[in-house]
Amino acid sequence: MSSRDWFDVARVRVGRRPVHRTPEGRLFSPSLLPVLADPRVQALGHEAEEQLLGDALRRYLHFTIVLETEVVGRTLLDLAHQRAPTPVSDQARREAFSLHCDESWHAVLAVDLLDQLGLHCDDLGPPAFLTRLNRLTLASADPASLMYLLFSIASETLISNSLRILSADPFLKPVIREFVEEHARDEAHHSAYFRTRSADLWQALDPCDRDRIGPIWPSLIHAYLEPDTEAWVADLVRAGLASTDAHSVVTDTLACSSTGAFRSAARPTLTALESANALRGPTREAFVKADLLDA
Ligand SMILES: [Fe+2]
Ligand SMILES: [Fe+2]
Repeated sequence: MSSRDWFDVARVRVGRRPVHRTPEGRLFSPSLLPVLADPRVQALGHEAEEQLLGDALRRYLHFTIVLETEVVGRTLLDLAHQRAPTPVSDQARREAFSLHCDESWHAVLAVDLLDQLGLHCDDLGPPAFLTRLNRLTLASADPASLMYLLFSIASETLISNSLRILSADPFLKPVIREFVEEHARDEAHHSAYFRTRSADLWQALDPCDRDRIGPIWPSLIHAYLEPDTEAWVADLVRAGLASTDAHSVVTDTLACSSTGAFRSAARPTLTALESANALRGPTREAFVKADLLDA
């Protein structure tokens, strides 16, 4: 998408504000909250289930706000101001300003949705993905700008289950589905932008740096996609489970989860890396080791 096209297609320019009009519909999709299937959680009753779905929505919107403003937004500003680890073209810099505007708009819509539904996320700590990303960044000898760029390439090119399931859930409150659909429309353009950034980055790196940096990607994908289990425990306790039961429900739920969803979510990122010629040597081996690719 050229900078000129952005004026005609960006949702901040031509989209509509999702407005909450009807009381019908649920706050989140149960299939994205697998702890709900546990009999100990079901025994808590319908009201507890509603509360857990509301908490899941609050956390999803908080996740979105933090991702957009503190990670992808930060990376886009680095690109716009030529502070990224490798230089980018003038056009890529101009587009970074536009995309930064999109991401801020998505955060505005998320805050607005919370307001309209009478919810807030002020009591929530940092989402697990940010804690994991910052831990990986601290452990790395590479600059934070590179780690954030790699993470942004991963998160902007993959298709999260949340986006796919929420946009297809007919029982969701219409305003939430509209929010997700508005967001997804912009993200299709962002994915193309970050695919190109992955190719640029790979071109600019020398072979030694490629072998060192490429293998970081799988851990960043896991950092993004893995569930926030501490949040699950906290919300289960708030819904009425004893702490030991809450931990046990989460452990049992994780034992039943498969890697299939991870793999299918990460596939577009792997395709992007494949077309950038990056999915080879130590990078490929790291993806196999992380169970995101067959040997
Ligand atoms: Fe976004
Ligand atoms: Fe985006």
